Amino acid sequence: MLRCSCLLVFILISSPFLLAAPTQGPQSAEYCGGCHRAIEQGWKESVHSQAMESRLFQDALEMAKSDLGTRARTVCLGCHSPTVAATGDYALALKVSWEGITCDYCHSIRSVSMNGPNPKALVEYNNVMEGPWKDVVSPVHGTAYSALHTSSLLCATCHQYRNAQGFSVLTTYSEWEKGPYAAEHKGCQSCHMYRVQGEVVDPRVKRTPNDGINLHQMPGSHSLTQLNKAIRGQLHVSHNGGQLQVEVDVTNQGAGHMVPTGSPLRKLILEVTVAPFSGKTLHAERVFARVVADQKGNVLNREDLVFMKAAKVVSDTRLAPMETKKEHFIFNVPQGVQSTVEADFIYYYSPTAATKAQQEVKFLSFRRFVQ
Ligand code: HEC
Ligand code: HEC
Ligand code: HEC
Ligand code: HEC
Ligand code: HEC
Repeated sequence: MLRCSCLLVFILISSPFLLAAPTQGPQSAEYCGGCHRAIEQGWKESVHSQAMESRLFQDALEMAKSDLGTRARTVCLGCHSPTVAATGDYALALKVSWEGITCDYCHSIRSVSMNGPNPKALVEYNNVMEGPWKDVVSPVHGTAYSALHTSSLLCATCHQYRNAQGFSVLTTYSEWEKGPYAAEHKGCQSCHMYRVQGEVVDPRVKRTPNDGINLHQMPGSHSLTQLNKAIRGQLHVSHNGGQLQVEVDVTNQGAGHMVPTGSPLRKLILEVTVAPFSGKTLHAERVFARVVADQKGNVLNREDLVFMKAAKVVSDTRLAPMETKKEHFIFNVPQGVQSTVEADFIYYYSPTAATKAQQEVKFLSFRRFVQ
């Protein structure tokens, strides 16, 4: 054993080629972006690259530390700065620790194990980049074809999470697995990393076939296009004596999982407003969400508490993939009174966001005029 490792040290010291290869752990995205420019640009716009720098996360991390101790911090960094597990940089002194879910982390995942309470990635930073292509050559790193990188399992390691109470906080992967898309082999990548135009590598480094790149922006609920793909609504209005009856059909037609999915603080809100020609404006709303509570039944409305303390579901009114819910509303508006009926869909992110614009977005509206 001893002789073996001495020999290895000897080879490492005496071979200039091996010394030149970066072997000491995760590389910065900036380094990858030197060649993979278009992909780096996309990734920079993703919430993955902001998972550490985001004000919302930093505030939550601070609260987790002060309320729940340093162990909580370790839990949070496990997904928001996954390179730390290998570098041990809990003081966050390295640049790469601030890059959140960075290139070298995802492309150094070798396998995913589903044995145990949570999906677990096996990661080795050995300068071999795993990806969707067979037999491609790079001047600075090894390459390896990986079926895992075209599968939802890769995403499960952070998008499916059971906490120390045994409570499932994040269930996006299992929602997908139970739904119709898994059966059709439409993985997370087909909706979040579809192919777009772009050069895999800067043409000055290497000319590659011009068949595009996989989107690295990861558009989700912060993308209006995705929200509009996710929800279809229909508005029906009728008069019945002194009552105005409004029905809104809400369908999750485009998301591969529940809407909303992910953090239990997310909500889809349907607001109905009736403005009669004369008289007071009337409002009603429905909320689609999963409300969670701690062991004692206190409803949790901060991400740090949700991740660490959630123990039960209080209510769950979310929309499963392809599910339609018919929502009925009745307003006291007599026949003959003209009014405008409006249905608005709002996506609500988090009560801890600093401004209203970061807190929620209105993405879809319908309007009817009734006599
Ligand atoms: C298993 C991986 C995992 C762990 C552990 C984890 N998170 Fe997260 N976190 C996520 C994912 C995935 C999302 C995005 C979910 C979504 O989009 O709804 C998220 C979202 C968030 C958000 C919302 C960010 C936004 O832009 O709205 C905050 C804040 C947050 N986490 C804080 C924490 C804190 C604090 C901890 C530790 C107590 C923690 N997280 C632990 C995976 C994790
Ligand atoms: C000096 C330029 C250069 C740098 C720096 C570089 N790459 Fe590459 N990379 C390439 C080339 C060239 C290819 C092959 C592309 C082709 O032929 O289609 C490649 C291919 C890849 C592939 C595809 C592998 C496969 O089999 O599917 C991945 C993934 C990848 N690189 C990730 C990275 C990551 C992550 C980094 C930073 C840690 C990085 N690269 C740094 C030039 C570079
Ligand atoms: C969340 C994980 C994740 C992160 C972060 C990530 N990638 Fe990827 N990347 C993937 C997956 C998954 C694929 C393959 C998708 C498919 O084929 O369906 C891919 C594909 C690639 C490819 C092959 C060419 C292509 O577009 O298909 C290259 C090169 C690459 N990534 C480089 C990078 C670089 C450089 C960064 C950082 C700037 C980065 N990736 C960040 C998961 C990631
Ligand atoms: C190492 C952990 C990790 C892995 C692996 C990972 N994610 Fe994420 N993902 C996160 C975290 C953390 C967030 C939330 C970041 C925040 O908002 O601060 C997130 C957010 C997202 C979002 C939300 C975007 C939005 O608009 O809010 C989408 C979509 C997403 N991830 C898709 C994927 C897909 C698809 C894969 C697999 C190819 C993947 N993720 C792999 C940790 C991860
Ligand atoms: C059929 C297309 C489709 C598939 C498959 C799909 N998604 Fe999504 N996803 C969407 C759409 C559309 C949205 C925007 C609506 C929303 O936020 O619920 C979204 C939103 C998200 C969000 C943001 C949630 C939030 O509110 O912050 C995350 C995280 C996410 N997806 C992760 C995943 C992961 C992980 C997988 C695979 C296990 C996956 N998605 C599979 C279409 C899809």
